[in-house]
Amino acid sequence: MKKIIVTGCNGQLGRAVNLQLGANTDLEFVNTDVGELDITNIDKVLELAREVKPYAIINCAAHTAVDACETDVDNAYKINAIGPRNLSIAARETGAKMVHISTDYVFDGKGTRPYLEFDPTGPQGVYGASKLAGEQMVKEFADKYFIIRTAWLYGDGKNFVKTMLRLSETNDKVRVVNDQFGSPTSTKELAGAIEHLLFTENYGLFHGTCEGSCNWAEFTEEIFRLAGKKTAVEAITTAQFGAKAPRPAYSILENYMLKLTTDYMFADWHDAIAEYIKSM
Ligand SMILES: NC(=O)c1ccc[n+]([C@@H]2O[C@H](COP(=O)([O-])OP(=O)(O)OC[C@H]3O[C@@H](n4cnc5c(N)ncnc54)[C@H](OP(=O)(O)O)[C@@H]3O)[C@@H](O)[C@H]2O)c1
Repeated sequence: MKKIIVTGCNGQLGRAVNLQLGANTDLEFVNTDVGELDITNIDKVLELAREVKPYAIINCAAHTAVDACETDVDNAYKINAIGPRNLSIAARETGAKMVHISTDYVFDGKGTRPYLEFDPTGPQGVYGASKLAGEQMVKEFADKYFIIRTAWLYGDGKNFVKTMLRLSETNDKVRVVNDQFGSPTSTKELAGAIEHLLFTENYGLFHGTCEGSCNWAEFTEEIFRLAGKKTAVEAITTAQFGAKAPRPAYSILENYMLKLTTDYMFADWHDAIAEYIKSM
């Protein structure tokens, strides 16, 4: 029986990982969220890992509130950098594989073609910088790791898709930015990629997003179309929207490492969102 420690198990990805891998009777899950295991506490992390002796640690915990990170800087670095450091130290000591999730926000967004894993990073805000520091911690402290950068994630939890559907209940029109480009990705697709990598020794840094790309306004139009909503989408610019944290204008990721080293293919974002809306 292989034991898997999942952190942040109540988050969107934590739930999807449980669904995806839950059917595997060879696995035993030790599910933890901040109440059971605060990943910022090295002593607690080591204590649990020594007791469980996991096959793998899947880190689904993060400080994901991008705007809040701009002012909650210490917590952003504690959760997004020190947390993965602690888990990586525990993984190394117990011989476990370390799965860590990162983000498209590690890039500056000035690219003109999809970013590869080999491209230079340049985070624009605290969230991206803290997540990049987390990647560096994992590389430094874990021996056997998979770092997967994903983007525009939606699943079982708070996310953009649900926010738009909620707004459509009370609004004839929503204002959504059309000058940020990326690839909406379902937690189901990402959990599938984690499962694909987990039992291999194909370690390293991977991009893991659905195929294809769009801007947020186009994504919203597709969500409304699939959900049969009549709400109009008014396209606005990032400057007009005026969020606290800067966001990359262009953050389309190429799943280059996955394509070079595996036969795993993410679904096209249209198919993934259709499946998600159907399942709601
Ligand atoms: N959401 C996106 O659009 C997106 C895009 C790119 C990359 N990612 C990355 O994908 C991964 C999964 O994201 P997600 O959307 O599933 O996140 P999520 O839904 O926000 O879940 C994160 C979970 O981590 C928990 N957590 C926070 N601090 C913790 C701590 N100190 N110790 C243990 N658990 C803690 C949270 O608890 P509380 O809710 O109580 O704080 C929450 O249950 C993250 O690494 C994120 O950076 C997400």
